[in-house]
Amino acid sequence: MRSLMGPAASNLYARFIRPFLFRLDPELAHRLTIAALSLAPPLAAPADPPELATTVFGVRFPNPLGLAAGMDKDARAIAAWNLLGFGFAELGTITPRPQPGNPRPRMWRLARDRALINRLGFPGAGMERAAARLERAARRSRAMRLGLNFGPNKDTPPERVAEDYAALARRLTRYADFIVVNVSSPNTPGLRDFQAPERIREIVAAIRGATPAGAQPRPLLIKIAPDLDDAQADAICACALDERVDGIVATNTTLAREAVGVSAPYPGGLSGAPLRERSRKMIARVYAATGGKIAIIGVGGIASAEDALGHIRAGASLVELYTGMVYGGPGIVAGIKRDLARLLAREGFRSISEATGAAAK
Ligand SMILES: Cc1cc2nc3c(=O)[nH]c(=O)nc-3n(C[C@H](O)[C@H](O)[C@H](O)COP(=O)(O)O)c2cc1C
Repeated sequence: MRSLMGPAASNLYARFIRPFLFRLDPELAHRLTIAALSLAPPLAAPADPPELATTVFGVRFPNPLGLAAGMDKDARAIAAWNLLGFGFAELGTITPRPQPGNPRPRMWRLARDRALINRLGFPGAGMERAAARLERAARRSRAMRLGLNFGPNKDTPPERVAEDYAALARRLTRYADFIVVNVSSPNTPGLRDFQAPERIREIVAAIRGATPAGAQPRPLLIKIAPDLDDAQADAICACALDERVDGIVATNTTLAREAVGVSAPYPGGLSGAPLRERSRKMIARVYAATGGKIAIIGVGGIASAEDALGHIRAGASLVELYTGMVYGGPGIVAGIKRDLARLLAREGFRSISEATGAAAK
C-alpha cells in the first residue's frame, strides 16, 4: 500500500493506469476509481514533516494539502484520502435528499490543457447515506481532518434554500472539522445568486441556528466562484468579516473559456491548469480585502508544490486539488508535500503560516 504513494506510483499511474482510465468515459473512470479507493484499509499515512503542520481556524492540520470537493461527494473513500497523505478532505457537495444530477454526458477531459469541464449538478446519495458512512469513519482515529461541503437540492425553491443548509448542519455538523457553504457551483441553476451578501447572511444564520444544542459550533467557510467581479468579491469579503465567518474557499470552477479557447465547446465549470491564474487572482483579492483576518483555502489548478506555494503566497493558509490528481495520479499528494517542504526551506519560510500572503507583503 505504501508503494502507492512514492514517485514510482506516479510513473505507474502515468504509464498504465491513466491510459486505461482515459480510454473510458470520464464519469465511469471516476466511479471505478472511487469504488477501488473505497476498499482502502484504515491505515495511517507516513508522518508528515513538522514544518508542514499548521493550525487554521483553531483546527490542527498535519499538512496543508487537501482533497477538493466533488471527488468524493458521498464520503465513500475517507480511509483512502487519509492513507494517501492528505492533510484534510473536503467531502461533498452533500445535499439533503438524494438526487440524480444533470443528464449525461456531463463531464469531459481536455487532456492537452490538463483540464476538466463538468456540469454534474450535485448527483449524490443525500445526507442520510453520508451520515452513515461518516458515523463509521468517526470511530477510527486518523490524522486527516474532514471538511463537509453543503449544497441545496436542485428542486428546492430559492426561498427554502437556507432551510436545506440548516437541515444539513443539523444532521452532519457533528462529523465535520469545518463546514463549507457551496454557493458557487455553476451547475445548479440560480445557486451563484446566493453569493449576494444578504443571502449569505441568511444561510449563515440558518446554519448557526441549526447547530444541535450542546454541539460544538464548527468553523464555517464560504466557497466562491472565480468569476465574481471585484465589487462582488469585496462585498462577500465585507459580509464574511461582518458575520465572523471563519474562511473563504477560493475558488470553484470557472465558466470562462479564454484560457482554453475553442478547444472547449462543452457547457459547465472548467477546472485544472487553465484555472490556476484566475483562482490565484481571486485568492489575492480576498486576502487584500480581508486583511488576512480570515483564512483562505486556495484551490484551482494545483498540480505541483510550486503551484501550491503560489496560492499560499497569494494568501491561502490551506490548499486543495482535484483535477491535478486526475492527471497526476494519487502519488501527487506525497510528491507535492515532499517538494513543498523543500521549497519552504529554500525560500526561508519556517512554516506555512509564514508563507501565507508573502506575495502581498
Ligand atoms: C468533476 C468535478 C466535480 C466537482 N464537484 C464539486 C462539488 O460538488 N462541490 C464543490 O464545491 N466543488 C466541486 N468541484 C470543484 C472543485 O472542488 C474545485 O473547486 C475546482 O475543480 C478547482 O480545483 P482543481 O483545478 O484542482 O480541480 C468539482 C470539480 C470537478 C472537476
